[in-house]
Amino acid sequence: MAGIFDVPAGLIMRVLPEQIEVLVSSHSEGNPYEHEEKAKLNTGLYCETVMATRGLLHVPDALEDEEWRHNPDVALNMISYLGVPLLWPDNEVFGTICVLDSKKRNYHQKYVELLWEIKKSIERDFVLMQQQEQLVASNTELRHAVRQQEAFSLKLAQSNQDLHAALMRLTSLQEELLRTEKLSALGSVVAGISHELNTPIGNGLLAASTLQSRAAEFALEMERGLTRSRMREFAGTVEQGAGILMRSLDHAAKLVGSFKEVVDEQAADGRQRFDLGEAVRDVLAGLDAVLDDSGNRVVCTIPEGIQMDSYPDQLRQVLAQLIANAVQHAFLPGLSGTVTIAAKRDGDGQVAITVSDDGIGIPPDNLARVFDPFFTTRMGKGGSGLGLHIVYKLVTASLHGKIEAGSGGGAGACFTVTLPVSAPAALRKPQAQPLLS
Ligand SMILES: Nc1ncnc2c1ncn2[C@@H]1O[C@H](COP(=O)(O)OP(=O)(O)OP(=O)(O)O)[C@@H](O)[C@H]1O
Ligand SMILES: [Mg+2]
Repeated sequence: MAGIFDVPAGLIMRVLPEQIEVLVSSHSEGNPYEHEEKAKLNTGLYCETVMATRGLLHVPDALEDEEWRHNPDVALNMISYLGVPLLWPDNEVFGTICVLDSKKRNYHQKYVELLWEIKKSIERDFVLMQQQEQLVASNTELRHAVRQQEAFSLKLAQSNQDLHAALMRLTSLQEELLRTEKLSALGSVVAGISHELNTPIGNGLLAASTLQSRAAEFALEMERGLTRSRMREFAGTVEQGAGILMRSLDHAAKLVGSFKEVVDEQAADGRQRFDLGEAVRDVLAGLDAVLDDSGNRVVCTIPEGIQMDSYPDQLRQVLAQLIANAVQHAFLPGLSGTVTIAAKRDGDGQVAITVSDDGIGIPPDNLARVFDPFFTTRMGKGGSGLGLHIVYKLVTASLHGKIEAGSGGGAGACFTVTLPVSAPAALRKPQAQPLLS
């Protein structure tokens, strides 16, 4: 630029907060300005006016110009000046671009236009610089975001892994729980069965071994000769022993029968149309002998005409158990009471049959357990605790209904069996939990 304008000094100046700096200085002869040289502002420099007016300044000869005669550049013998402002893309002032000479210069318009062109090309570079800066910044941001994303993915993978591990632990825990639950259920069933069978088998064993030793004695005595009364006595012993054996084995066989009933899940058979009231009265007729002995009364208030299409045998078994329980458990020795059987149809094709008594009732703690297998308050007195469990299975699985036990308010116990009047065809599994009220 200095060459084209034929001047000793071509400069690009940059403004700082309180100074102005020579950013680029031409390497031309007689140039008094050095690169990075700084001058104070507010001292009347040519460039200050350019920056303030944001326009061209042309001073052909400062010495002839009163306004410029004393400006600091005159001290450096720079008496002519041509300069234009340099602006940032946002219109902030960057500085100036100018040429200075030690002799008077009246620049031709072409030179002025050339200086404007140089200014514009530098300002275009400013735009590019800024765009590049922005690009670098957004690149950095992008890289940061990518790094964050990667860290996030890593964390996600880790927590996924943790979750998977937790799930595996949970599954195995659940399996283990199921196993122990099954084992403990099986354990209590086995314990119950052993306990129940222990008495009849123990009695049977005792009777059989007594018989065995009596028979051996008898055999020895036979060698020596027997009296008629000794033979009669032995026959009596055998008869008595065999009786005990028979009863014990019979008891054991019955127990095994009820265990089987608990475990079996055979399809209910014997589906029929029948009248509910009639079926209940059949049951009562069968229980007459028992009831007469106990002095208790059983009242049936079921009207004729509740037609059912279900399994009468299973229903009779359920009712017989409930009535037997009332007679066995509800009334204190020496006292007799009343068992009432009632039934009510509802609009949804269901019938609710209640077997209630005016006896001692069932304490709340026991109420929750009465349907559990082997729960009995007559342990060792002939109670196996299987009666209500069998009832529960019959009601839920064979008759497709539900059963609830209730007690309280000094009104004895009440069992409510709710059944569909017309049982569905398919066999249902027993419900997991008995319903209580
Ligand atoms: N009507 C009732 N009043 C009072 N308690 C009852 C009544 N019905 C049942 N229970 C209680 O419920 C328990 C369980 O009855 P469940 O029929 O299952 O067994 P159990 O009668 O003791 O023995 P099993 O029926 O095998 O001979 C009984 O031991 C008794 O404590
Ligand atoms: Mg019972």
